[in-house]
Amino acid sequence: MAGRIPRHFIDDLIARTDIVDVIDSRVRLKKTGKNYSACCPFHNEKSPSFTVAPDKQFYYCFGCGAKGNVISFLMEYDNLEFVDAIEELADINGVAVEREDVANPAKERQQIAQTKQDFEVMSQAAEFYQQQLNQAPAKVAEYVQLRGLSAEIIEQFQIGYAPDEWDSLLKNYGQSRQSATQLADLGMLIEKDGKAGFYDRFRDRLMFPILDRRGKCIAFGGRVIGDGTPKYLNSPETRIFHKGRELYGLYQARNANRGLSRLLVVEGYMDVVALFQAGVTYAVASLGTATTTDHIKLMLRATSEIVCCYDGDQAGRAAAWRTLENALPSLVDGIQIKFVFLPDGEDPDSYIKQHGKTKFEQLIDNAQDFVSFFYQELYRKIGQSEGEFARSKLSQLAQPLIEQMPNSEYKHAINDTLSVKLKREIKHNRQDKIADAKAKQAKYTASTSRKVTPVRLAVALLLEQPHLIKHLANMSDEQLKSLAQMDEAGMDFLVELLLFCRGQQQCSAAQILEHWRGTDKEKIVSQLMMWEHHVQAENIEVVFLDAIEKLLSLFVSKRKAMLQTKAKMNLISAEEKQEYLALLKIK
Ligand code: UTP
Ligand code: MN
Repeated sequence: MAGRIPRHFIDDLIARTDIVDVIDSRVRLKKTGKNYSACCPFHNEKSPSFTVAPDKQFYYCFGCGAKGNVISFLMEYDNLEFVDAIEELADINGVAVEREDVANPAKERQQIAQTKQDFEVMSQAAEFYQQQLNQAPAKVAEYVQLRGLSAEIIEQFQIGYAPDEWDSLLKNYGQSRQSATQLADLGMLIEKDGKAGFYDRFRDRLMFPILDRRGKCIAFGGRVIGDGTPKYLNSPETRIFHKGRELYGLYQARNANRGLSRLLVVEGYMDVVALFQAGVTYAVASLGTATTTDHIKLMLRATSEIVCCYDGDQAGRAAAWRTLENALPSLVDGIQIKFVFLPDGEDPDSYIKQHGKTKFEQLIDNAQDFVSFFYQELYRKIGQSEGEFARSKLSQLAQPLIEQMPNSEYKHAINDTLSVKLKREIKHNRQDKIADAKAKQAKYTASTSRKVTPVRLAVALLLEQPHLIKHLANMSDEQLKSLAQMDEAGMDFLVELLLFCRGQQQCSAAQILEHWRGTDKEKIVSQLMMWEHHVQAENIEVVFLDAIEKLLSLFVSKRKAMLQTKAKMNLISAEEKQEYLALLKIK
């Protein structure tokens, strides 16, 4: 059990940290006078009231009252316990956390010292390989040239060469039994059978050092020069390297970008390096493994948008699906995870070389969103079957996945889409199955967010596609107007908007905004215009009609209840009685 962290250590840590750097790496800050500001990360707002004062090393939000120092910020923002926030801050500063009263202080000290030494040894190895690249045989320089690696990029990624010998690292750094054992522990040497000595693990390979978040070398990937197997040889897991928790290129990406607006996950070392060289400085690679939950958490500490890039083939889709599954628990509001599939036979390295940065980034900008990929793959899994079987299969596959998601807009969008899809299936099905499906659908709908009300959804979709009004041709203006009587938040505005769209031939969103400028509706119009409803383009019409249908049936039941009360109290007119009887016939 680790001991207490001494007070002086915490004080020192705060003193050596600049709160502006720490916050800025998580929330993009803008300099405003002597302070910095941003939209508050702790509540929803459109204009910035979150302020960071560098002189006071303090943040404050005029909107929600959140305030504190760098540690409170890490606790709040990264959702950390106090001690974890200290660990994180120590990590940011590249120091080890000091402890008092540890059970075995000698052992603890020894471990800290060993880790430090391990880093030193690995950094020596990296330097050694870098030097060897300069003295390498011609075929190596030719290969480097073939791969188009510039001198700068080689320097930046500390790329090196392991000589074609069994003992080059061994004879330079592993002379004593102790140093050889350490190198073997770190995966750099392999012990011969029968403990008859050691030999170099990496021989005649281009060496890619893997750096941790602090820029320390913890492992290597080695590529064969030209053809040969294995194409890449990687360090094994060691006491300082756990591949499920490291990403190749993350250190360089963070260093090259102050505040990463997105990270791109690719498959290979070469992809990261080639992209960086071409100016795409935000790519990382998982090290020959699937992208793990830890990887995703790690990335989300640095950015809010992750784009995962794969080959367009079967294997690429399978890898993307594994990533999707691993990402489910991390899908909170405010983050985005998307997928890009490259044309057959291309990888990011070859693609950017052939088509250039702009084309490549266009591809990334048009990545497939999470919800769309989710359903695309589920449909692929259930095949072309239809009807009851497909329906139950779809929800059977979707439910356990949805359950892993935290409550978020993503979950609502996935649930909404599921209910829409289930409903669409029903239409192909026999009448007697309808009741059952409706019950199921109601269950999904009930679990969706309050925030996504039918009114909000209808308004947002209509703002985006005003022509949707044409689907309500069978409702008269009078009927539309009568809906406004309904006591439902935003209903009167929805009715106004419906009538406006109907009155205007082919109006655009910009016109709508203009129409309400300066009125009390302007704010809601612009807010809903920016709102991310997560409805896929192909589903907009169905979701819109579904929302209207929900409102109509709500209207009917409310009206029925009102007339019923009137009737009970003998206040009902003859006309209203007619209306009531008519309403009773609906469903
Ligand atoms: P690829 O086989 O797609 O190679 O492996 P690549 O990245 O395009 O490499 P180049 O362009 O031919 O040099 C993708 C990743 O899978 C891991 C490596 O991390 C590699 O970058 N891998 C691949 C291995 O670990 N071992 C291998 O033998 C092959
Ligand atoms: Mn490649």
